[in-house]
Amino acid sequence: MRKIAHLSDFHFGSDEPTVTADLIRSVHAEKPDLVVLSGDFTQRARRAQFEAARDFVNALPELKLVIPGNHDMPLFNIVARLLWPFSGYNKYIEPLGVTGQSYRDEEMAVIGLNTARRFTGKNGRISEAQVERVHEFFRDLSEGVTRVLVTHHPVGQVANEVFVDLAFGSQLALPRVAHAGVQMLLSGHHHRCLSGTIEETEEKESVLIVYVGTANSTRTREGDGNTYNLIYIEGHDVEVKVMRWVPGAGFKEGRRSAYRYGDDGWQLLPTSQKQRAAE
Ligand SMILES: [Fe+2]
Ligand SMILES: [Fe+2]
Repeated sequence: MRKIAHLSDFHFGSDEPTVTADLIRSVHAEKPDLVVLSGDFTQRARRAQFEAARDFVNALPELKLVIPGNHDMPLFNIVARLLWPFSGYNKYIEPLGVTGQSYRDEEMAVIGLNTARRFTGKNGRISEAQVERVHEFFRDLSEGVTRVLVTHHPVGQVANEVFVDLAFGSQLALPRVAHAGVQMLLSGHHHRCLSGTIEETEEKESVLIVYVGTANSTRTREGDGNTYNLIYIEGHDVEVKVMRWVPGAGFKEGRRSAYRYGDDGWQLLPTSQKQRAAE
C-alpha cells in the first residue's frame, strides 16, 4: 500500500498562518510515502513569499515532489517574466523536491510536469515534448505499478461535474498520456476539491482525475474551504480522502471516494456513493 499526500496552491503572501501550522501537523501525522506539491507556492513570486514557501516545504516530511504554478512567475515585472520566469522557484523550491520531479517504486510511479507558461495567461500549457517525456518515463514499467501524472493545471475534465479551464494542448495530450498508461491525473490551480470521477478518452482508456483545493491560502472557492487530498493506492484499488480544515480543530477527514481499476477501467465503488450522498 502506498499513500500520497497531495497539497497545492499555497499562495504565500495570501496564506493563513493558522491553517499552515495545522497543515504541517496533519501531514506529519499521516506519514505519507510521498508528498506531492503542485504549484502556486507564492501569490506574486516575491522573494519574501518564496522564503516563506521554502520554510513551509522544509517543514513537511520527505519525500517531496514539487512543480511550479502560474503564480510562481512574476506578473508585473515583465522583464523578469520574459527572461527568467522561474528564477525564484528554481532557487527556493525546486531543490527541495525529488530529482527530475519523478518518483518510482514497486507499487507506484509518479511524474510531475511544469505547465506554467510566460505567454499563456493563467491557464498554462502541456507540450508535445512533455507528453513524450511521460511516454518515456512509464515505458517498461511492470503491470502492477500505478501510474500517476501531476500537473498544476488540469489536463482532463471530470465527467458530469463543473467545467474548468484546462491547460492548452490538453485535448491532444489526454488521449496520449492515457495511451502511455497514465491511470491517475492529479492537479490544482482551480482551488476546487473534486476528488475523483472518470473521464474516458476516445480510445476508451480510463483515467481517474483528482483535483485538489487550496491547502492554506485565503483564496478559497465557494464552500470548498482549505483542503488537501490523501490518496491510498493498493494494487487496483485507490481511495481518495479529502482532508478539510475545520476552524479550531485542524484538518479533519472529509469525503472519501473509492475506485477499482478493472477491465472496463475505473469504477466508483458503491461505498463512496453512499458517503457522497450523506454529505
Ligand atoms: Fe492557485
Ligand atoms: Fe494556478
